[in-house]
Amino acid sequence: MLEYPKEAGGVIVSGGSEANYTALAVARNARAEVDMKSKGMQGVPRRMIVYVSDGGHHCLERSIELLGIGGKNLRWIPTDDDYKIKIDALKDTIDRDRVAGYNPFCIIGCAGTVDTGAFDDFNALADLAAREKMWFHVDAAFGEWVKISKTHKHLADGIERADSLAIDLHKWMYMPYGIGCTLVRDKLAHYTTFVYGHEAQYIKAAKDLNKDLSDIIYSAPSLSLPLSRNFSSLRPYMLLRAHGREKYSRLIQQNIDQALYLGDLIKRDAEMELMAPVASNVVCFRFNPGGLTETELDRLNKIIIDEIYKIRFWIISDSIIKGRFTLRAAITNHRSKREDFDYIYNLVKELGNKALSDLMKK
Ligand SMILES: Cc1ncc(COP(=O)(O)O)c(C=O)c1O
Repeated sequence: MLEYPKEAGGVIVSGGSEANYTALAVARNARAEVDMKSKGMQGVPRRMIVYVSDGGHHCLERSIELLGIGGKNLRWIPTDDDYKIKIDALKDTIDRDRVAGYNPFCIIGCAGTVDTGAFDDFNALADLAAREKMWFHVDAAFGEWVKISKTHKHLADGIERADSLAIDLHKWMYMPYGIGCTLVRDKLAHYTTFVYGHEAQYIKAAKDLNKDLSDIIYSAPSLSLPLSRNFSSLRPYMLLRAHGREKYSRLIQQNIDQALYLGDLIKRDAEMELMAPVASNVVCFRFNPGGLTETELDRLNKIIIDEIYKIRFWIISDSIIKGRFTLRAAITNHRSKREDFDYIYNLVKELGNKALSDLMKK
């Protein structure tokens, strides 16, 4: 479905955070200049540096911290007006780190940033990673699924060149919580990171037992942290078999169309402002009737979101993008209908006008 190479391996994990953590552990071990399993981060001769856009999810930072790489060695690279990583700024930062004597070892691309749903230019990132001999990982937690849409497939171009991918099925694929997935192109690198004990011993043991190594490297406990685990791949397998690719494609497309619809309603209204281009299934917007300062707009829109939370009938979230408070509709529900978006739009306007007149009275 995702056009990732068939020779790649992978494992079902608990969600996007664990999927990223698992992939980054493999990246770290594969690109460390020491045997990471025995020496650990205490043995590396040069500081290992990771790069991601400033739209990257905070679970990436947590992974970097937990893997002992250190949050200071994660470089947050600025994004352009479309919230895509700036390739020139990335190149300059890598160059500076090389001059400083560090080891730039991993570039992380974002397929669907959590705030705005933006997609990096993956072919440019893959080219750069290849030139710099770096690991290329993509956090595609929800964004990967544009690949099965009719109109937005191109956003994921180049993802298939990544060394590893983190994907969720419990976000945009409408499945129950607890289903993420790490895919790794070099399955032996994946296996050697998580397998118990030292590489030389397991290969020896496998060969001694006369087993086919390809069988062993599909064993989930050798590819992720848990040893005892439930049959976690059964749920996604059954759901995919039951509903089939066509239905998922249709639903993904439906959510994209709904995001475009809401985006259009907002663009056409002088009282509303679109805060970021609608790239996929996320719409960032605010009530902005004109003539107000940034501080007043923040205040007004915070009142709106507080009122929305009281209603509890449906939920949108909020965020801060490029320093400005925004309402954020992330559309991942297969039951949403077009009229739901008319309702959201009208309600935000109604709440906004009411909050504005209350503020004027004060
Ligand atoms: C882009 C992205 N990456 C990673 C995650 C973390 O995934 P999970 O909540 O499944 O651990 C999220 C969750 O919001 C996300 O949007």
